[in-house]
Amino acid sequence: MHEAAYDTLGLDARYVSLEPAPEDIRSAIEGAAALGIAGLNVTIPFKEAVLDEVNPTDRAAQIGAVNTVDFSTDPPGGYNTDVDGVRRSFAHHDVPVAGTEAVIVGAGGAGRAVAYALVEAGASVAIANRTTAKAETLAAELDAPTAHSLASLEDLLADAEILVNATSVGMQSDETVVDRGALHPDLTVMDAVYHPLETRLLRDANAVGATTIDGAWMLLYQGIEAFERWTARSAPVEAMNTALRSRLEG
Ligand code: ATR
Repeated sequence: MHEAAYDTLGLDARYVSLEPAPEDIRSAIEGAAALGIAGLNVTIPFKEAVLDEVNPTDRAAQIGAVNTVDFSTDPPGGYNTDVDGVRRSFAHHDVPVAGTEAVIVGAGGAGRAVAYALVEAGASVAIANRTTAKAETLAAELDAPTAHSLASLEDLLADAEILVNATSVGMQSDETVVDRGALHPDLTVMDAVYHPLETRLLRDANAVGATTIDGAWMLLYQGIEAFERWTARSAPVEAMNTALRSRLEG
């Protein structure tokens, strides 16, 4: 999707993947800066370690994870655009978040980004997780949200307007963490899983008349946010979306 954006805007740039050894992360960042590389995306297992090598935003520091490095400053800036990806996915679909009741299932890395985004956007957030203690830890960190076990999902969803699946359930398998009977037409259901694009959860949500937002949107918009930091240009959203979806569907 990044190279589709460079092509569309006529930028002489490349997006490549690099895999340093974990113990070389500092010299990898310094080397990238020395080479004049504009920015990096950072993924597992480096999202936490990179925090110490850059100047993180308050939000990235609070979340404890950086997924985007911008070398236009010295020291380089560290951002968490996963959070922006969630916010911008809802905005793209004209789904208001402020003042809504939102339920997040999952309290791992994806759950953290979703929880921060929805709290920042002014939703009243309930976090449900298989391991309730992890939901409690995340909820305590964010102050306002409430923590629950998966058994509470049906009750929580009855009054909710937003549901986000931030677990890995549905990835590569036709399973769902939310019973279809708990879904209703007034819900917007977002799935962080993007393989497959239409998870069982989203199929069930469509069947009951809920609004759905698939996992490619979060992936797209975290990338768009990074692209805009690196290039100071507005991202060509359509071109990036088309390229991403053709890759995910292919
Ligand atoms: P990620 O960074 O993608 O969020 P993770 O940190 O491993 O990955 O978190 C995976 C999430 O999916 C967790 O919330 C996990 O629940 P636990 O905290 O109880 O492990 C959830 N998850 C994974 N498999 C699950 C399953 N079969 N049923 C319910 N939740 C599941």
